[in-house]
Amino acid sequence: MSAQKILVTGGTGYIGSHTVVELISAGYEPIIVDNLSNSSINILDQIAEITGVKPAFFNLDLCDEQAVNFFFATHAIQNIIHFAAFKAVGESVVEPLKYYRNNLFSLVNLLNYCVEKDVNFVFSSSCTVYGQPDVLPVTEDAAVKPAQSPYGNTKQIAEEILQETTAVKKNLKVSSLRYFNPVGAHESAKIGELPIGVPQNLVPFITQTAIGKREKLTVFGTDYATPDGSCVRDYIHVVDLAKAHVAALKALQKPNAANYEVFNIGTGKGSTVLEVIKTFEAVSGQKLNYEFGPRRPGDVEQVYGDVRKAESQLGWKAELDLSDMMRSAWAWEKYLVEHPIL
Ligand code: NAD
Ligand code: WQD
Repeated sequence: MSAQKILVTGGTGYIGSHTVVELISAGYEPIIVDNLSNSSINILDQIAEITGVKPAFFNLDLCDEQAVNFFFATHAIQNIIHFAAFKAVGESVVEPLKYYRNNLFSLVNLLNYCVEKDVNFVFSSSCTVYGQPDVLPVTEDAAVKPAQSPYGNTKQIAEEILQETTAVKKNLKVSSLRYFNPVGAHESAKIGELPIGVPQNLVPFITQTAIGKREKLTVFGTDYATPDGSCVRDYIHVVDLAKAHVAALKALQKPNAANYEVFNIGTGKGSTVLEVIKTFEAVSGQKLNYEFGPRRPGDVEQVYGDVRKAESQLGWKAELDLSDMMRSAWAWEKYLVEHPIL
């Protein structure tokens, strides 16, 4: 029997590339569509080095309706994992239309195809939809709070589009995965996060500071009501996250699968910024140059997920801990020095 084809949009990106590796290991045939707006074509060779398989790749802008229609006219697809989107929160505040256009037009163009077919669809959502939750750990049925940025709003609107569409198109089955904070890299150190320009996220900023690309890290805020005054997040290893997509896809393929489900994908454990730094220092043996600064506007104090729904319904659970996350992120940063693959 030939392997099942899975369309992976954004498959050369950070989470997409790790998911492609896990799909290949699980016996699927991923087909990548990406316009390389935030990733490198060289990732395909990196995936091939890890898996022995170079996945099929199509350079296509998902906002281009004609190109999307042409792709589907020539490919019978029943399974889609949709990662492609812009994700820079700060940039989305400055250029909201760029984000609404890219993140929503691409989704609508894909769904136009899906609603006419029996399609299983896994969507990349975010814990950002919860804002600062009233109760922690936050469960999937917690209220969605007003978005803090146009980026966050694209995830909320996308979830509404998916919910409303699946309510009337019963042949389409969707799982919306609300990721907490994905960090780390593949254990081979051949793929990982490739931030363009100055990283906005904590872990790439830590590793770039340790390698000497940045002078020092600023810890944003010291007076939060948390164990050490810095913010709390639910950091999840990107390989665990990638495996959650394989589990979500398998669950959607079951005959009795619900039409639309939302899942928290995290570890269920919160860590402060200072804990992350200390763990990084412990596993890397590097002393990190950091200072304390004011709060970053828009940051929530603490968020971590109740992940029991994913455990019980997807049979998935995060296995890697903060040390694994920091060790792999550091190995990847060091690999990039010898192999500048951007
Ligand atoms: P990424 O930027 O590394 O990957 C996204 C990929 O999509 C890139 O390769 C980019 O070139 C491609 N892309 C963007 N717009 C496209 C378009 N119109 N047509 C075709 N390809 C396009 O980002 P990532 O970190 O891998 O994130 C993947 C998804 O997960 C995104 O939807 C993001 O919003 C979501 N997410 C990410 C995080 C995170 O912290 N990384 C957290 C929660 C949710
Ligand atoms: C983590 C913690 C910072 C940088 C973002 C998006 C969210 C989701 C995940 C996509 C915070 C602190 C950071 C630094 C610091 N993405 N920090 N110094 O903000 O939790 O979430 O990525 O959906 O939507 O907003 O992640 O990595 O930016 O920050 O002290 O230089 O690290 O204040 O507490 P965040 P982050």
